[in-house]
Amino acid sequence: MDNVIEIRGIIRDFKLGQETVHVLKGIDLEIERGEYVAIMGPSGSGKSTLMNLLGCLDTPTGGSYILNGSDVSTMTDDELAEIRNKEIGFVFQTFNLLPRTTALDNVALPMIYAGTSKANRNKRAAEVLTDVGLADRMDHKPNQLSGGQRQRVAVGRALVNKPSIILADEPTGNLDSKTSVEIMSLFDDIHASGNTVILVTHEEDIAAHAHRIIRLRDGIIESDIKR
Ligand SMILES: Nc1ncnc2c1ncn2[C@@H]1O[C@H](COP(=O)(O)OP(=O)(O)O)[C@@H](O)[C@H]1O
Ligand SMILES: [Mg+2]
Repeated sequence: MDNVIEIRGIIRDFKLGQETVHVLKGIDLEIERGEYVAIMGPSGSGKSTLMNLLGCLDTPTGGSYILNGSDVSTMTDDELAEIRNKEIGFVFQTFNLLPRTTALDNVALPMIYAGTSKANRNKRAAEVLTDVGLADRMDHKPNQLSGGQRQRVAVGRALVNKPSIILADEPTGNLDSKTSVEIMSLFDDIHASGNTVILVTHEEDIAAHAHRIIRLRDGIIESDIKR
């Protein structure tokens, strides 16, 4: 079996003053390369906390996380930053683009950290923007783009270093329903071309794009159904 993600007994507590908030209470999860997974659950159930751990934006209080064969639960912040840039493409609900920066430069940014030359960065960023349907918008800044176009730029940025997994936390949460359908068709294409895609959503019709639905409740996995 080719698991891109293996987590065992993941716990995440947050200290708030004197109190400890137990957010993730022991999560075990294996995700195979090439899966298309939706994570659902009520607000506050721990979906974003789990995604941040999967995306190496955060480290667990307990338990282990093997990402693409490496144990990331014990890595230093520098090691994590490197693995994140190489292995993870993260798409956020609020796009998180640099505001005064063109679509091309936003997409090229992760390649700066990867040490790619400027000519190769521009070539690859243009290729990815073409793939996400923005060949004619490369020089536009985020405020010159619609919400759907901004999210396409963010998806391009997530794909540019050819990561092992694409994580998207409510990627259609700020989009109208027509634009959501377009963005989901983009994720469907990304999955069809061999990528592992994990997304969080509140909406059953968005989750129906995935082949596996994991439901969280109160920091534990309530159900995990493949179809
Ligand atoms: N940095 C933090 N400090 C304290 N509590 C947090 C922190 N991050 C998340 N939480 C708490 O963890 C719970 C789950 O949050 P989150 O993972 O964002 O839920 P979801 O994405 O499912 O809505 C919430 O009760 C939230 O307040
Ligand atoms: Mg959330």
